[in-house]
Amino acid sequence: MTVEFTHVRSLVEQVTEDVVKWRRYLHQNPELSFEEEKTSQFVYDTLASFGGLELSRPTKTSVVARLKGAFPGPVLAIRADMDALPITEENHFDFASKTPGKMHACGHDGHTAMLLGTAKILSGLADKIHGEVRFIFQHAEELFPGGAQQMVDAGVMEGVDSVIGIHLWSPLEVGKIAVRSGPFMAAPDTFYITIRGKGGHAAQPHATVDPIVIAAQVVTNLQHIVSRNTDPLDPLVLSVTQFHAGTAHNIIPETVELNGTVRSFKPELRTEVPRRMEQIVKGITEAHGATYEFRYEQGYRPVINDEAVTEKVRQALIEVFGEDVVIEGEPHMGGEDFSAYQSVAPGTFFNVGAGNVEKGIVYPHHHPKFTIDEDSLPMGVEAFVGIVLKTLGA
Ligand code: NI
Repeated sequence: MTVEFTHVRSLVEQVTEDVVKWRRYLHQNPELSFEEEKTSQFVYDTLASFGGLELSRPTKTSVVARLKGAFPGPVLAIRADMDALPITEENHFDFASKTPGKMHACGHDGHTAMLLGTAKILSGLADKIHGEVRFIFQHAEELFPGGAQQMVDAGVMEGVDSVIGIHLWSPLEVGKIAVRSGPFMAAPDTFYITIRGKGGHAAQPHATVDPIVIAAQVVTNLQHIVSRNTDPLDPLVLSVTQFHAGTAHNIIPETVELNGTVRSFKPELRTEVPRRMEQIVKGITEAHGATYEFRYEQGYRPVINDEAVTEKVRQALIEVFGEDVVIEGEPHMGGEDFSAYQSVAPGTFFNVGAGNVEKGIVYPHHHPKFTIDEDSLPMGVEAFVGIVLKTLGA
């Protein structure tokens, strides 16, 4: 490989203006999950302008670009997600969302722009690459069942030896990159419970079966699963996030709807927790003469980072940025459909810091005032290019 890591930065500097421009265009024109028509066309046209890439549209709103190196070698896939969220933006930049009710509030505009910048740089380096770089521009990360599984089903991972992905991360200060082997992001499951009692006059509770009192017991008893039934060393969240009942102060309602989320890493918990939940719901409702319906839906699989790929990525990042920049990532209970790619090839997902307290860039992801420090964008490009050179260099 004749391209040295020291040379990477100057290549990145040459595309940074474009990357920022692309990110701002995408930010201004957000599209929701499964509706990324203009976004994917923009990505397709931009990639086509680079030359040297084989382009395809695996699904209606996604794009894949393949860069075949001059020499045989492994296939490295890099993924960016492209969808926005149903939120009205409260920022007032000149490139703020033009569409009320839609906003890039998770940084996926930045992910897309960074991967475009990476493709631009690498499309000029095919004669130095041993193997293939596959750029995956994925739709619909934010909405279950997610775009990643559809991409896998469409065959985009065929022949891939390893896969990487970045999430820009506002809780992490710009200038840091967080890498972690093993469990990194949780499996987000969803549950729906209906408790059916017998409605009636609030002044005659004895003639009713009050589902509110029963549901209240269900909510508190469900917390016993986390605190009493499972190993405290296995991370687990069980949150009841919706409790809907009633129409007036003098009516005992007929039903209560309880919905919520369960977050976990261990596959066993995803069968054990719903079993315990239903046992509690059944026991409490039966004890009080009510009936129930219980539905549990598994969401994305957890993001579990492969050790060998992660260590290779960590080494590449340290060579590019130095020891001070690359820190150990903290696992968290959010979900990511990047796990779909990891189910067919070893991979690693890591965070590039995008927050900046001094500049007031402090809002969490999915917040109407969320934004990123754009200095994170060239860092993400440099990370991708550095990893490609480390993996597919001579
Ligand atoms: Ni996201």
